[in-house]
Amino acid sequence: MSLEMKHVFYTYQEGSPTESHALQDICLNINEGEFLGIVGHTGSGKSTLIQHLNGLLKPTKGEVLIDGININQKEAKAKRKEVRLKVGLVFQYPEYQLFEETVEQDIGFGPRNLGLSDTEVQERVKEAMALLKLDYKTLRKQSPFDLSGGQKRKVAIAGVLAMKPKYLVLDEPTAGLDPRGREEFLEQLAVLHRQGMTIIMVSHSMDDMAKYAQRMIVMDHGQIQLQGTPQDIFSQPEQLQQIGLDVPSLSRLLLRLKQRGLDVRTDLFDIEAVKTEILRAMAAREGKLTC
Ligand SMILES: Nc1ncnc2c1ncn2[C@@H]1O[C@H](COP(=O)(O)OP(=O)(O)OP(=O)(O)O)[C@@H](O)[C@H]1O
Ligand SMILES: [Mg+2]
Repeated sequence: MSLEMKHVFYTYQEGSPTESHALQDICLNINEGEFLGIVGHTGSGKSTLIQHLNGLLKPTKGEVLIDGININQKEAKAKRKEVRLKVGLVFQYPEYQLFEETVEQDIGFGPRNLGLSDTEVQERVKEAMALLKLDYKTLRKQSPFDLSGGQKRKVAIAGVLAMKPKYLVLDEPTAGLDPRGREEFLEQLAVLHRQGMTIIMVSHSMDDMAKYAQRMIVMDHGQIQLQGTPQDIFSQPEQLQQIGLDVPSLSRLLLRLKQRGLDVRTDLFDIEAVKTEILRAMAAREGKLTC
C-alpha cells in the first residue's frame, strides 16, 4: 500500500505567457507507515507536489496512485472519491480555514459531511482532539476564534484527523509556532507516526527533518534533486549549499570541528550522540598528543 507519483508534470497557467513549470517528471513512492520529509527552497514545488497527493491538483502529465488506484482516472469516479479520503491534507496556516461557531462543530464538519450519525461524529471529534491533546470538555463549546494561535492550529488539524486519513500530509505545520509549541506539536506527530499513521511533512527546518524524518526528498526547480535518509542527505553539504539549503545546526558544528582538524563523524544529529562523539574525538586527540 502506498502513494505513488509516476512521471508527474504540472504547469500553472499552461499556454499563457506566464505559465510556470512547477513540477517536472516527479517519480515518488511513499510507503505506508513512513515519515517522509520534503524540503526545498521557496518556489521549488513542494506545495504543488503535495496537492497532487489527494487530487486537489491534477497532473498536466503523469499519474498519481493511492493504494494502486489512479485518482484522476475518469472511469473510476466513485472509487476515486473514496481513495482521495485516505489522504488528509493540512495546508500551511490551516487555522485561517476555521469557520464554524464552536470547536466541536468545526472539527466535526468533515465527518458530518460523510453522513455519519451524531454519535459517530462526536466520537470522531473526541478522538481527534485527544490525539492532539486538546481538552474536549473545556474547548468543545468555545469559538475557535477565541483560542491561542497554537490551539487554533491544532483544532484545524484535528478537523483533518477526524476524517481518519491513512496518509497525513502537512505543509509547514510548525510555521509561526514558538519553539515550545513547535516541539510539542512535532512530538505529537511522532506519536501518531508510531501509532501507524503515514506522515508526509513539508518543512524548511533541517533540524526538524534530521530529528523526525525517516526519509527525505529535496526539491529544486520542480524536480527531486536528492532523496534518501537524513544521514544520506546531510552527508552531502556541498550539494545542499548549491541549491541554497543548509545542513542541521549540529551537523554544521561537527563539520566546522572537522575543518579545524578534530576527527569527528559528521552524520549525527542527536544532541547526546554529538556530545559523546566530540568527547570521544577530543580524548582520542589528547591520547595521540601524550603518546
Ligand atoms: N497559483 C499559481 N499560479 C501560478 N504559478 C504558481 C501558483 N502557485 C505556485 N506557482 C509557481 O509554481 C512554483 C512552485 O510553487 P510552490 O508553491 O509549489 O513552491 P513551494 O516549494 O511550496 O514554495 P514555498 O516554500 O515558498 O512554500 C513557483 O515557481 C510558483 O511561483
Ligand atoms: Mg509552499
